[in-house]
Amino acid sequence: MAAIEMRNIVKKYGDGFPAVNDVSIDVEDGEFMILVGPSGCGKSTLLRMIVGLEDITSGDMVIGGKRVNALAPRDRNLAMVFQNYALYPHLSVFENIAFPLRLAGRPESEVESKVRDASKTLELDEHLQRKPGNLSGGQRQRVAMGRAIVRDADAFLFDEPLSNLDAKLRGQMRTEIARLQKRLGITTVYVTHDQTEAMTLGDRVAVLRRGVLQQLATPRELYTQPVNLFVAGFIGSPPMNFLPAQVNGDQLELPFGSVTLPKDKAAKAEGRGVIIAGIRPEHFNDAAVLDAQTKAKGATFTAHVDVVEWLGHEAYAYVPFEASPDVADQLAELERDLDGESIRTQLVIGLDANSTIAKGEDAEIWVDSSEVHLFDPATGENLTLST
Ligand SMILES: Nc1ncnc2c1ncn2[C@@H]1O[C@H](COP(=O)(O)OP(=O)(O)OP(=O)(O)O)[C@@H](O)[C@H]1O
Ligand SMILES: [Mg+2]
Repeated sequence: MAAIEMRNIVKKYGDGFPAVNDVSIDVEDGEFMILVGPSGCGKSTLLRMIVGLEDITSGDMVIGGKRVNALAPRDRNLAMVFQNYALYPHLSVFENIAFPLRLAGRPESEVESKVRDASKTLELDEHLQRKPGNLSGGQRQRVAMGRAIVRDADAFLFDEPLSNLDAKLRGQMRTEIARLQKRLGITTVYVTHDQTEAMTLGDRVAVLRRGVLQQLATPRELYTQPVNLFVAGFIGSPPMNFLPAQVNGDQLELPFGSVTLPKDKAAKAEGRGVIIAGIRPEHFNDAAVLDAQTKAKGATFTAHVDVVEWLGHEAYAYVPFEASPDVADQLAELERDLDGESIRTQLVIGLDANSTIAKGEDAEIWVDSSEVHLFDPATGENLTLST
C-alpha cells in the first residue's frame, strides 16, 4: 500500500487545452479519495496519469515516496477497475481472477491460495467455476475487484465503476465497495460525476471544475463549508437555493422580504451591494409546525407557494421568484457548469412531512438564518466561511 501525492499536475493535450490545470492532491496511505465534477472536468485524465496511461505535461506524481512520472503502467503496481470490468468471457471466474498471476508466471500453489483468499473476501466462492456472462452486474464487479486484489497492488483506481448498473444495484455495490475498501485498508482513488457516490464513499472528496481543483475536504465539510458557488451548487440534492440578496445592517433582503442574520455573518457582506445568498432546502420549514424556541432561532417571511410535493417522510414547496439582472448572468453560467442541473429561478423549500401548506397558498416560511451562505457574485467566493 502507498500514499499518492499529486504535485502541481498539469495535462495539456495536443491542442494545448489544459484538461488538468495545476492540481495538487495528497492521498494518504489507506485513504478513500474521490475525484468528482461534471463531465469534462478532467477526472479521468487525472486518474489515467496516476496509472500511467497518460503522459504528465508538468508536475510530480509521487507514489509511495517515489516519483513515477517516467514509469510505465506495469511498473507502478496499481490496479485499475474500469467501468465495463473488462472480464474475459471464455474464462471461468477463477481464471479471470487468476489472470494477472498467470501472466506473471506465478506457481500454481500461489495462484490457488491467492484466488481462494480473494474469492472468500468477495463472497464469490460459489461462483468460481461459472462464466462472467452468467453473473449479475454486481458479481461481475466483484470479479473485477478480485483480479485487482490478487495483484497485491499498492492502490486501487476506479473510473466510474457503477455507472453501467441500475439505480438499486448501484446503491448495493456502493455499500459493498465501501465495506471492502475499509476491510482491505487499501489506498483508493475513485472517479465519479455522481455527488451521492462522492458523499457516501469518500474519506475525502476533491471537487474539480474545468481542470481546476475547487476544494479538497471531507464530505461533511464540503456540505457545510463550500468554498464557492460551484461547490455549493454541485454538492447536495435537491441543490442549494441561490437568491439575489443584499445586506443592510443585520437584515438580509431576499426577493420575498427580509430576514435577520446573525451579526458576524451580516458583517461579512455588509455594504457589498447585490450578493448571492445560498440556502439549502432543509434550512427552511413551515413556520406553523415549529415550536417557539426553534422558530426564534431563525426568521420568518411570507411566500406564495406554487407547487407542493409530498414524499411521505418529507415534502417540498416551490416558490418562483425573479432573479435580478445583477446576478442572473452568474447563475446562468453556474447552471451551464453544473451540467444543466436546475438552478432555475424558483426556491425549493423543505417542509416537515406533517406540514399542511397547500399549493396556491401564501404561507409563513421559516428560515434558519444561521445556515445562510453569502457569495460574492463576481468571483463566486463564499464570504461567510467559518474560520
Ligand atoms: N485524447 C484527448 N485529446 C484531446 N483532448 C482530450 C483528450 N481526452 C480528453 N480530452 C479533453 O480533456 C478534458 C477532460 O477530459 P476527461 O475525460 O478527463 O473528463 P472527465 O471529467 O473524465 O469527463 P466524463 O465525466 O465525461 O468522463 C475534456 O475537455 C476533454 O475534451
Ligand atoms: Mg471520465
